[in-house]
Amino acid sequence: MKTDYTALVAYAETDISLLKKAFGTLFESKYGTSDEEIHFYAAPARINIIGEHIDYNGGKVFPAAIDKYIYLALRRRTDATVKYDDVRFPGEFSFSITDNFTYKKENDYCNYLNGILTILKDRGFTFETGFEALFFSCIPAGGGISSSSALECCFAYAVSDLYGLGIDGVEIAKIGQESEHRFMNVNCGIMDQFIIATAKKETAILLDCATLEYQYVPLKLGDYRFVVMNTNKKRQLSDSKYNERVSECKIGLGVINAKLTSLGKKTVPDLCSLSSQDFAELQDSVKDPIILKRIRHCVTENERVYKAVAALKAGALADLGVLMNASHDSLRNDYETTGIELDTLHEEANKTAGCLGSRVTGAGFGGCAIALIHKDGYNDFVKKVGAAYKDKIGYEATFFECGTGGGAHSI
Ligand code: GLA
Repeated sequence: MKTDYTALVAYAETDISLLKKAFGTLFESKYGTSDEEIHFYAAPARINIIGEHIDYNGGKVFPAAIDKYIYLALRRRTDATVKYDDVRFPGEFSFSITDNFTYKKENDYCNYLNGILTILKDRGFTFETGFEALFFSCIPAGGGISSSSALECCFAYAVSDLYGLGIDGVEIAKIGQESEHRFMNVNCGIMDQFIIATAKKETAILLDCATLEYQYVPLKLGDYRFVVMNTNKKRQLSDSKYNERVSECKIGLGVINAKLTSLGKKTVPDLCSLSSQDFAELQDSVKDPIILKRIRHCVTENERVYKAVAALKAGALADLGVLMNASHDSLRNDYETTGIELDTLHEEANKTAGCLGSRVTGAGFGGCAIALIHKDGYNDFVKKVGAAYKDKIGYEATFFECGTGGGAHSI
């Protein structure tokens, strides 16, 4: 039985019991045998259908988990040692469960994991013994479909299960987000962790990020499918303008609330509490044109989410496509998180027959876009959009058609 990365990907796509067998064999060849059982877990990547950059502005978002997963094999040890390794990027990292973890560049992806252990300890959970962990991911790294949140949520779920901590999905999501804030210096919203921890197959989630109320919405696409288009432009959220956007929105909220106060009106807790009408009445008070654009994106995007969910529920997929395009335009013009690579994919996708709409998905600044296309048009779509992208950008984009995925779980 083959246990290299390519073989594991093939098992993951065809037969989960074969995957467990091969992954278990690889685990034992790395860490040796033990009386302790090896436990297996999976967590999905996500796309966001619409509602971008508004999770940290109290908005509604509409993500779905997809059928690409990160897998984890985990086994308890009898001493305090913690070991991490990864099939795709091999190299063993070793710590002690009793360490006081802090971010260290050389610890690479383990920073997310040590962050999670720290947060669990801060919440009063105690660990007497450590573990060995081996990760194997089918999710493109740093590609905008939330490989890092999948890593966090898979690990948090697995540790909760292995140590019998009984943490539910919503809490797993909060722990993942806190690890990003405290360990990775990314002031992200909760959308990615939330969908990854709580997703159900064949649905998307309409999540109110102000209250964390949510509902599962059946993802009935008929003859249409979402295609993920990866720009293959590498970026790291912490290096990007992500935190800058978060700060600009805070400034915008301050300006709006100062105006509301001067008018003797109630202040708002976040930008997505404003309707278009509120915005029209208040916009003159925002003198900085950049801040004005950021606020406008939040207000209009939040309204598009309601309309998109209504369109999907009504089976009006063409309307959903129009809203996706409007969302991309707003992210390009007002929020400025797209760039030539994503704009090229978006434009070329829309030139292709059978494409109802397309947009950047996730943080942007590189990463991925999605398109809603007719199922019979996939090969033609990839050929046309791929060639035009290569021509303009100089390197290849990659594509895959996605189905839905389930939230973090044991396998
Ligand atoms: C990243 C963040 C999310 C969200 C998106 C943009 O994926 O992790 O919280 O802000 O960007 O919508």
